[in-house]
Amino acid sequence: MAEIIVVTSGKGGVGKTTTSASLACGLARRGKKIAVIDFDVGLRNLDLIMGCERRVVYDFVNVVQGEATLKQAMIKDKRFDNLYVLAASQTRDKDALTREGVERVLKELADDGFDYIVCDSPAGIEKGAFLAMYFADQAVVVVNPEVSSVRDSDRIIGLLDSKTRRAEAGEPVKSHLLLTRYNPARVETGEMLSIGDVEEVLGLKTIGVIPESGDVLNASNKGEPVILDLESQAGQAYDDAVARIIGEDRPMRFTQLEKKGFFSKLFGG
Ligand SMILES: Nc1ncnc2c1ncn2[C@@H]1O[C@H](COP(=O)(O)OP(=O)(O)OP(=O)(O)O)[C@@H](O)[C@H]1O
Ligand SMILES: [Mg+2]
Repeated sequence: MAEIIVVTSGKGGVGKTTTSASLACGLARRGKKIAVIDFDVGLRNLDLIMGCERRVVYDFVNVVQGEATLKQAMIKDKRFDNLYVLAASQTRDKDALTREGVERVLKELADDGFDYIVCDSPAGIEKGAFLAMYFADQAVVVVNPEVSSVRDSDRIIGLLDSKTRRAEAGEPVKSHLLLTRYNPARVETGEMLSIGDVEEVLGLKTIGVIPESGDVLNASNKGEPVILDLESQAGQAYDDAVARIIGEDRPMRFTQLEKKGFFSKLFGG
């Protein structure tokens, strides 16, 4: 059975595409067969972060509209044989996706033996975001630790609980919180909300906390999702999140302010 995971958020620009790319690579690295789909019609982005933008010939809209087969449109990742990207179209109108078309593509992927299908949602609560979440079994709600991001996430959680296939069938989508751009120093000074604050407001459990890190932009520029950078704290935090998604128990890392010890204070380390 394919598990469909939507990566969604209320506010835009919080890190959904960054997260989708890293989760997809992380799951693939663990041997799972993965498809990652860009639902952001008109704003191709996932293919850039995955580093396959020059190989896009057909896209998700072409498949939904029957202009190409899924096999023609799926781009095989250069790093993992078991990872495929379905890019968004850059030019089509936002209404090009239909629920029937999306359902057909997801079913074909499930029949092809994919273990996980990661759906990168566009921002907002318009049709694309609705279609990205409608068939989901699990949701990763990406939130930045600030009031506006948390407030807008509440609306998305409301939709996950009411406007999805699972909600209609009376079995809720399994939703998790993923906090990104977390900066423990700014939490300490009260400029940012803490993990506990966000969990309390949204009523979700945290699947991962990704620190604010310049490695993320570097990774995007190279087309190498940050999870592949083993030196990077953001990459390691994403790997922890992947482990938790497949059921492992991992303590949270990089969430506390590193207290300087006596020697590092003395030597300015
Ligand atoms: N942990 C992080 N540390 C630093 N920068 C980050 C982090 N996560 C994401 N970013 C940056 O935030 C910006 C937005 O990220 P991304 O494109 O993944 O967001 P998005 O939610 O997909 O946006 P949209 O709503 O437009 O689709 C990018 O410039 C990305 O490099
Ligand atoms: Mg995006």
